[in-house]
Amino acid sequence: MKTEILQILRTTEDYVSGQELCDRLGVSRTAVWKTMNKLKEEGYEIEAIQNKGYHLLSYPDVVTESEIKSRLEAEWAGNSIVYAEVVDSTNNLAKRLGEEGKAHGTLAIAEKQTAGKGRRGRSWSAPPRLGVWMSLLLRPNLKPSCASMLTLVSGLSVTRAIEEVTGLKMQIKWPNDIVYEGKKICGILTEMSAEMEGIHYVVVGIGINVNIEEFPEELKQKATSLKIICGKKIDRVAIVTAFLKYFESDYSKFLKTEDLELLKMDYEYRLVNLNQKVNILDGKKEYTGTAIGIEKDGGLLVEKEDKNVVAVTSGEVSVRGVYGYV
Ligand code: BTN
Repeated sequence: MKTEILQILRTTEDYVSGQELCDRLGVSRTAVWKTMNKLKEEGYEIEAIQNKGYHLLSYPDVVTESEIKSRLEAEWAGNSIVYAEVVDSTNNLAKRLGEEGKAHGTLAIAEKQTAGKGRRGRSWSAPPRLGVWMSLLLRPNLKPSCASMLTLVSGLSVTRAIEEVTGLKMQIKWPNDIVYEGKKICGILTEMSAEMEGIHYVVVGIGINVNIEEFPEELKQKATSLKIICGKKIDRVAIVTAFLKYFESDYSKFLKTEDLELLKMDYEYRLVNLNQKVNILDGKKEYTGTAIGIEKDGGLLVEKEDKNVVAVTSGEVSVRGVYGYV
């Protein structure tokens, strides 16, 4: 009922009477009063005036199920939300939910991760309430080889969400780091459970540095946050709900062709590596070339110095700008 009450309070400019809430929700006055008290305990500032009703003055900076759901614009993504104040890793949580049979589109989200995972076995720092640490559970009816494209689809949707909320144009470092002026804002780690015949589930784990004010010395040159860029605190839930909305439309375009044909242009428009010199480290092989775009299957097209064009596929390949991280 918290979600429904928040939805009504948010969409009503004036006061909502207790009676109207009871009628619309089909519950008793006591139930409404109890829910109002719970919301106040969670940090919502709700004004209650006799003979007028309730009015939402301010809301807390939390990524709880009711806060996200009351602002949700998507139809299926985020329909089910599992929130934890603290978790080891939202990817691990989403994988547990996947094993339990939870639905396509379930979102696992936490205020803090104690063992956040990055790509290639690295760790990911996820301090409490300063970022968006979330994982989306998907059950696509696709070949396992298609799963890596979902990382690029998600990267594009997160980029659109950040752009909508901040008004700034973000860039994508292939395959899926989101960067601003050469510094990383967001990383994505996709994990999958599959067998030869098909995918059981995919977990797309997204970490966005939103309100972090300072990074440790070793990360300062490489990472930044939206708060540092914008000079003000950013609404984390606005980013989550915008992501879920954009992901739904990007995912449906992806399903139409089962590749990135319909998303390639939007992706390349933001590709920070485009027409840049890149250094490719593929196992023992290392070479330099110019990134000229992406393929429909998500591979990075690189023109080598001998003018031969190769498609680099994600996985364990490392792509670096010749002068640094991008
Ligand atoms: C990377 O760039 O190395 C990927 C980082 C992915 C971090 C996110 S935070 C939410 C989700 N849970 C995790 O443990 N990792 C991902």
